[in-house]
Amino acid sequence: MTDNASNAPSNKAEGQAMWGGRFSAKPAELMQAINVSIGFDKRLWAQDLAGSRAHAAMLSSKGVITSEDAAEILKGLDAIEGEIEAGTFPFRDEYEDIHMNIEARLRELIGATAGRLHTARSRNDQVAVDFRLWVRGACERTAAQIEALQKALLAQAEAHAETLMPGFTHLQPAQPVTFGHHLMAYVEMFGRDASRFKDARARMNECPLGAAALAGSPFPIDRHQTAGTLGFDRPTANSLDSVSSRDFALEALSAASICATHLSRLAEEIVVWMTPQFGFIKLTDAFTTGSSIMPQKKNPDAAELIRAKVGRILGSLTTLTVVMKGLPLAYSKDMQEDKVPTFEAFDALELSLLAMAGMVADLTPNAERMAAAAGAGFSTATDLADWLVRELGLPFRDAHHVTGAAVKRCEELGCDLPDLPLAELQTLNAGINDGVYSVLTPAASVASRVSYGGTAPTQVRAQIARWKEILA
Ligand code: ARG
Repeated sequence: MTDNASNAPSNKAEGQAMWGGRFSAKPAELMQAINVSIGFDKRLWAQDLAGSRAHAAMLSSKGVITSEDAAEILKGLDAIEGEIEAGTFPFRDEYEDIHMNIEARLRELIGATAGRLHTARSRNDQVAVDFRLWVRGACERTAAQIEALQKALLAQAEAHAETLMPGFTHLQPAQPVTFGHHLMAYVEMFGRDASRFKDARARMNECPLGAAALAGSPFPIDRHQTAGTLGFDRPTANSLDSVSSRDFALEALSAASICATHLSRLAEEIVVWMTPQFGFIKLTDAFTTGSSIMPQKKNPDAAELIRAKVGRILGSLTTLTVVMKGLPLAYSKDMQEDKVPTFEAFDALELSLLAMAGMVADLTPNAERMAAAAGAGFSTATDLADWLVRELGLPFRDAHHVTGAAVKRCEELGCDLPDLPLAELQTLNAGINDGVYSVLTPAASVASRVSYGGTAPTQVRAQIARWKEILA
């Protein structure tokens, strides 16, 4: 230390140089242990440097510090950036958090001038702006990764717009759909997820810097200037709110939890489709693992892990919600507990999105197996009922009854609906003619569902085209 610190009595700790004027003894080791955050908040180094640069430039343009001092500070911050990037920066527990680590290092590099950087600023607005910048970046990255996943889904959907598969309700065969249509359902879900991150980003894009400790600053600072420099739309309008709100992170974690829920549903389907019993899809060796004891196994571990990550991510939302609940205004140290869950949630989500995009691109459907399954389980029974309504003018409830009887007869004869002899059908309703067979195949069933958003390949292709344009 070159200056202030050397004036400190020797029974003080290094880190107390920042705030220890009224202290005459070191904090207990346990106090330091519970207080220290550098181990995790070092991840905010780039945001902290950006905030400090914007602040220093503003202080100098407003004449609060001289332009010479600002230039020295900025040079020092550049040097620190170089050290961090080179891996030579001394991250030290004694300096508690990323803010004081950088300021202490600045003082070592440029001397007493470093102390001018903290004019009209507090760690409370400093951490608020750093964390907001980090969460904003996470929302941007996540939205981009979701879009990459959507593109992977679109490519498979386009290749399989006509590939038949059973559609399920209650995980029981319901009506035939196409694999492309099924994948496009996830494109819709992930589209809403991406838009939630974009909405959250727009709402959080106000700059808390300049709120200082809690009440604002007596210096002639320009909060619009620093907000603009840091890419915010405007400064936050209440200094107490600025330093004590973390709902921007809660909102991002809510969006993350919903997205993780969608990922877990797709992951579960991949796990099910991969089983030999379903045999709907194959993953290559790139996205499967073997068993150390059972040589025949090929396990979808990535899908299983993605299915599980929602626990961690929703856990983070719960953690931060409970941290914030009941906190009086303004800043309390409780809020230091905002970072670990948020970092952890976004780490898990980003990895899941990347792995899911990889897995979706990797999978190959077994079209024959899926088509055979699509026809099983009397999946075109609804088509028979609809035909009776359309062609014979039966009320739908009567048509439903006749169809139920046809299914029962199939079960007795051990055949599928398309194989039920016409004579059998005519015992149920004399008006039935062999035109009915044209609607009883899965392909005909699918092709007939041309209502907007339906599973007919023409509709699926229309939605693929719409999404291609959106994602272009
Ligand atoms: N490390 C602290 C945090 O993450 C920075 C703010 C500290 N402010 C304070 N008044 N002690 O919240």
